[in-house]
Amino acid sequence: MSTDMAADQRKEPGVVIKDGWSGYNLELFNYPEHYRGDLECVYIPHGVIMNRIECLARDILEDIGHHDMMVLCVLKGGYKFCSDLVESIKAQSRSANRQLTTRVEFIRFKSYLNDQSTEDLHIIGPDDLSMLKGKAIVDTGKTIRALLQHVETFQPKMVKVAGLLVKRVPQGTAELPDYVGFVIPNRFVVGYALDYNEYFRDLNGLSLLQQCYLTQHCKKTN
Ligand code: HPA
Ligand code: MG
Repeated sequence: MSTDMAADQRKEPGVVIKDGWSGYNLELFNYPEHYRGDLECVYIPHGVIMNRIECLARDILEDIGHHDMMVLCVLKGGYKFCSDLVESIKAQSRSANRQLTTRVEFIRFKSYLNDQSTEDLHIIGPDDLSMLKGKAIVDTGKTIRALLQHVETFQPKMVKVAGLLVKRVPQGTAELPDYVGFVIPNRFVVGYALDYNEYFRDLNGLSLLQQCYLTQHCKKTN
């Protein structure tokens, strides 16, 4: 492949999943028995996620140069993505014989109730992020804008944002993360550490919920 083609590919916002995508038949996949009847389909299988993460790790490694890397993982939903991404970055740097120091910190937001985003956003995490100064950060999370504002106050040398999923929402952010796994329709997905009221994080891949599950298990929002 020519270098020009490789550069062009980097301009892609991520793997785009079209509106009509109805996922894979659930019964063709192995999934925990206790979720039988709750899921509609496997939306993005685990292997596809892992392959995509390898590509993001390659791009990050290329961009990070010889900087140390401080990773700020957004819990809880970002923990698998963060962990798999960091492992892939480390593996690829080892096989390229590159020295890379990585450090991971964790931060938490609470902004979702049921499948709806709420207005209040609380950052729960280390108060002192001054260790970010002069480091390159890759943030794995969705609530980017609020976090970036917070992070910038510690004057890091370079800040990069990685997100596994970007949703095509009507009032969506114009700013994309620097590294995007998949651009998906505005559907509520669970699995791969993403939850619905704390359930389904233990699914390997990303799935859609049955509509009847959403209506029966909805907690009151007010
Ligand atoms: N699933 C789980 N948590 C989320 C989602 C989602 O689709 N979007 C934002 N938080
Ligand atoms: Mg959640």
